Amino acid sequence: MTKLDINIIQKLFQKRLPDSHKGSHGHALIIAGSKSKMGAAIICAKACLRTGAGLVTLNIPKKERLAVFTAIPEAMIEFREDKNNFGKYNAVSIGPGIGTDKSAENILKLLISNIKSPIVFDADALNISAKNYDLVYRLPENSIITPHIKEFDRLFGNHDSETERRQTATTKAKELQLIIVLKGYKTFITDGEKSFENSTGNSGLAKGGSGDALTGIITAFLAQGYEPLQAAILGVYLHGLAADITLETQSTESMLITDVIENLGKAFKKIQ
Ligand code: APR
Ligand code: MG
Repeated sequence: MTKLDINIIQKLFQKRLPDSHKGSHGHALIIAGSKSKMGAAIICAKACLRTGAGLVTLNIPKKERLAVFTAIPEAMIEFREDKNNFGKYNAVSIGPGIGTDKSAENILKLLISNIKSPIVFDADALNISAKNYDLVYRLPENSIITPHIKEFDRLFGNHDSETERRQTATTKAKELQLIIVLKGYKTFITDGEKSFENSTGNSGLAKGGSGDALTGIITAFLAQGYEPLQAAILGVYLHGLAADITLETQSTESMLITDVIENLGKAFKKIQ
């Protein structure tokens, strides 16, 4: 297992070319949010934009569009009720705040049946899959799943220790041909062959919304053309680094995930 440090990240990270245009940085689709959970969608899209995706489209229920127009004018919107063309995006993520009702299950199944490129799979997408386990087997190869401990255990069974959980993550990543990001204190990332442990982040992230931001960040790296494992590594490290930088002006108690997203710029300056 490799412990992530700034040198590894600096080698992985590729600077934007001076003559680039928005088409060079990919179009991300984020399927997130539902009636009472639009915050998750907004946080995820904001983090995705702050991580450099050329374009970000949010897939949300039509009724909730005003919240997005107001909070995040840079994002485009498509409606969950409409016919969608998932294939036209450079990266797709699904899960934050979608809920676990029938309509969430339907969009999840529709996506999995219609996409061949790797996706980012988080939160309620994982909770739905815990009850429909065949969905995990149908994920495109090299997709990234980002469970926290409880989501992980709901999917793969209860574990007594983090060591056991990491062993299962490694076995399952290989068997299912996925990248598994097992989130928590010292997030563990594995593709079944190579494994990494994160060194950034702090308990200021132990608040609702932190995981939604991580999904947006990883989706942005995927949209910009990084390989899924690289996108996961860069995303996890940068998310934690931005939280560490936030400690210069906030405490672990006062930190909001929006503060962390605002500090992604300073975090990027450190990994260049
Ligand atoms: N140190 C470092 N990093 C931490 C710490 C810590 N003490 N605590 C949390 N983090 C990081 C994790 O590594 C992860 O990247 O914060 C993030 C938390 O992600 P989630 O557990 O997914 O939390 P959250 O964003 O609140 O999830 C929101 O999604 O998974 C569902 O049920 C969950 O409804 C909730 C929603
Ligand atoms: Mg979460």
